Amino acid sequence: MKVTNEAITHLPKGFLLGAAISAHQTEGNNFFSDWWHYEQLGRLPKSGIACDHYRQYKSDFLLAKEIGLNALRISIEWARVMPKAGEWDEGAILHYRDVLETLKSMGFKTFVTLHHFTLPDWLAQSGGFLNPKAGEYFEAYSRKVVLQLGDLIDFLTPFNESGVFAYMGYGQGTWPPFLQNMWLVIKIQKKLINLHKQVYRSIKLLSPNLPIGPVENLGYFQAKNKYNPVTRVLAWVLGQAKNRWLLYQFKGTADFFGLNYYFHHVLELGRLKESIGIVSEREPRSDIGWHIYPKGLYWLLKSLKPINVPIYITENGLADAQDRFRHKFIEQHLEWLMKAREEGVDVRGYLHWSLIDNFEWAEGFEPRFGLIAVDYKTQERTIRPSAQIFKEIKADL
Ligand code: BGC
Repeated sequence: MKVTNEAITHLPKGFLLGAAISAHQTEGNNFFSDWWHYEQLGRLPKSGIACDHYRQYKSDFLLAKEIGLNALRISIEWARVMPKAGEWDEGAILHYRDVLETLKSMGFKTFVTLHHFTLPDWLAQSGGFLNPKAGEYFEAYSRKVVLQLGDLIDFLTPFNESGVFAYMGYGQGTWPPFLQNMWLVIKIQKKLINLHKQVYRSIKLLSPNLPIGPVENLGYFQAKNKYNPVTRVLAWVLGQAKNRWLLYQFKGTADFFGLNYYFHHVLELGRLKESIGIVSEREPRSDIGWHIYPKGLYWLLKSLKPINVPIYITENGLADAQDRFRHKFIEQHLEWLMKAREEGVDVRGYLHWSLIDNFEWAEGFEPRFGLIAVDYKTQERTIRPSAQIFKEIKADL
């Protein structure tokens, strides 16, 4: 396989090309987190030692370098930094200092997320974000990270996907705290957005030049039959209006916007088929059934143009253990991204999910999202052939 399209073999100088991971999904032994707690109770698959990335981060980053990436997105584990209410683990902070110093010394731009779905267990057991003091604790944690690590962070994100976190834990109820209450979904998402604003303001006082932005998972909604006015309006409301509502919430507190793109939702009267494409059943799907629809990225980016802040694709990827689709997948998403850019959308980077195979939350270790395969028995890493694409492109960066 070779990349042939000029638009992406000649990416603009300074464009960020990288990958993303998160703490709980890769590090292993996340003892003080709520996920760990419920995993031991058998309510979730066990993450155990995961990818042992807490110890193997240096060699993992070397592999990222070898692939040809110039940016990495990681998350810091709140439960490690604040294992008890109001108490810091300075050792954990030093660990993340070393992680970030390693990244910087290898020349990576760093994207750091403060909350990627997991909570310190002590907070989860006392109401999580519904605890009236949760905001105070989160703000203290954010300030601590910026004071001690801020010089090594290029882009800071308080919350990964406020909408997904709220929905999975409080609506669908498959993630902690396993509730099913749509009012709580709205309440929690609102709470996270407000906390984002609070933290944004408080960090700007400490570090005025550190870019801070939200990361959200936006799906692309489409009517199956474009002549059906009902589904067209519905697709517009669910997509454009919802996305705009969300973006509006962050107005004034986003120096950049991080877009995680995975889903294409096709609406038919009477049913909403998640991730099933227009040209439909014949188009490729990932190992976990998610439809592959690169053009949706283009439409989403176009719809984000009015927000007037730089956009980064902070996640986009697929479960593909055999690596059958990943090369084409990346190539095509980059092609649509570049088309949006040529048409005036200020998109400045693409981070693939994920650098290494990892713990896919309630789905466990089965889905393989990595550019690098992990053998969980031996912790051996193997670069998948598709990862070659970054070298083919990088030549001109
Ligand atoms: C999350 C990741 C997750 C990925 C694939 C994203 O929404 O941020 O943690 O692994 O989707 O499901």
